[in-house]
Order: sequence, then structure tokens, then C-alpha cells
Amino acid sequence: MDTQGKIPRHIAIIMDGNGRWAKRRLLPRAAGHRAGMKRMIGLAEHAFDVGVEYFTAFALSTENLHRPQEELDGIFSLFREYFKSNVETLKKKHVALRVIGDLSLLPHDVEELVKNGEAATRDGTRGTLLLAIGYGGRQDIVHAVNEAVRQGKEVTEEEFGGLLSTRGIPEPDLLIRTGKELRVSNFLLWQLAYTELYFSGKMFPDFSDKELDGAIRAYGERDRRYGKV
Ligand code: IPE
Ligand code: IPE
Ligand code: MG
Repeated sequence: MDTQGKIPRHIAIIMDGNGRWAKRRLLPRAAGHRAGMKRMIGLAEHAFDVGVEYFTAFALSTENLHRPQEELDGIFSLFREYFKSNVETLKKKHVALRVIGDLSLLPHDVEELVKNGEAATRDGTRGTLLLAIGYGGRQDIVHAVNEAVRQGKEVTEEEFGGLLSTRGIPEPDLLIRTGKELRVSNFLLWQLAYTELYFSGKMFPDFSDKELDGAIRAYGERDRRYGKV
């Protein structure tokens, strides 16, 4: 990469725009999701190559689960394909796979594939690929609150972070959203408190490795003050 700037340790990306990408090509939405999945794999690989340690991709939100069943079935099939054909590759490349979200909202066999994929790649040390599937930021927070209540104790911010699905993972340094919309759409609400935001008008399947380099370069020029002067 042609930048000497800081590399974000953790990049999170809202992979939006698959449907519009397909529509512009007069293709079914499913073709957009397929192209998006392929791009996600390429971007994660590129991110680890340039030294990113954690790469998080928002692939399906809790709200997305209210989309037409036909679209969801297509997306679930893509997940099946993904886990069946990529876990070995991730393992060979020493990338640990972790999934956040409510797996019980997914078809049972997908849930099993996810668990097996996580177990098979657990020892990966090159980087962590975090997939958010059936994920909602509010759901994550409410789940953590209920856990604290169950434990019957008041918690510090740090302890609360440890009750979220992202426990053990540093907060994202850079959040990228493709697809032109300027919103967070219930992604990592707690974890994004001091994350740098980067929005791209590119539809996700068109967000190239070079575009990612551009986002990283922009990040390198940011001054993170965390409320200080
Ligand atoms: C993002 O692309 C993928 C998912 C939310 C599953 P969209 O499907 O939201 O694509 P657009 O926003 O309709 O173009
Ligand atoms: C956000 O995209 C969720 C994912 C990319 C998984 P959406 O397409 O669901 O977001 P909205 O509906 O435009 O806010
Ligand atoms: Mg969208």
C-alpha cells in the first residue's frame, strides 16, 4: 500500500449496497449478495495483508431478518457456501473466524456451520475475521444488561464491555459504510463510541482493495482526541 500512515488495528465495515449494485446491472438481488460475499473475502484478506488485526463485516442485521423469505433463503445459502468452502482457507492462513449475532435466528444447519468454523479456526494468530450475522447493536446491549442483572451486580464500563458479544476484541478504530447511506443502522452501538467514520458512495461489490487503502489513508490523517484538547 502506498501510505506510510497509521494502520487501524480494527476495521469494521457495513457492507451495504449489494441490492442496488445488482439492480443497476439488471440482475436479481441475490447476484448482488453473491458479489458482496466475494468482495468481503477479498477485502478481509487485503486488510490482514496490510497489518489490520481485526476485520469485522456486518453481513446481516436483526432488521434484515424481516426481508422477504426468498431473499433471506438466498443469503443463508451463501453463508452455507461460505462456511463450507472458506473455513479451510482461513485455517491455512491462520485467520480466526468469530461470529457475533443471535445464531438462534438462523437456520439450524447454518448455526452449526458457524460453530464448527469458529472451533476449527480458533488458533488463528494472523488476524480475526468477525462476521456480524443476525446482529443488532441494541440486542447486544440488552443481552449484556440482562446478563449483568442475572449476575446481580452493578458493572463498570469495562465490565459491561466484557458482557457484549465483542468481549476481548478492541473497539473498532475505523468504521466504513459503503452504499452511500450516512447511518449506523444498529451496528456496534456501544463499541463505536470513539471510532472514526468513513462513508463511501461505492456499492459494496465495487468497494475495491484500493478503496480500502484510501479509507485507511484517510484514517491515518485523522486526529483522535477522545474529548481532550
Ligand atoms: C447489504 O446490501 C447486505 C444486506 C443488508 C444483507 P443491501 O441488500 O442492503 O443492498 P441495498 O441497500 O438494497 O442496495
Ligand atoms: C445495514 O444495511 C445492514 C447490513 C449491511 C448488514 P441495511 O441496508 O439493512 O440498512 P438500512 O436499511 O439502509 O438502514
Ligand atoms: Mg441496504
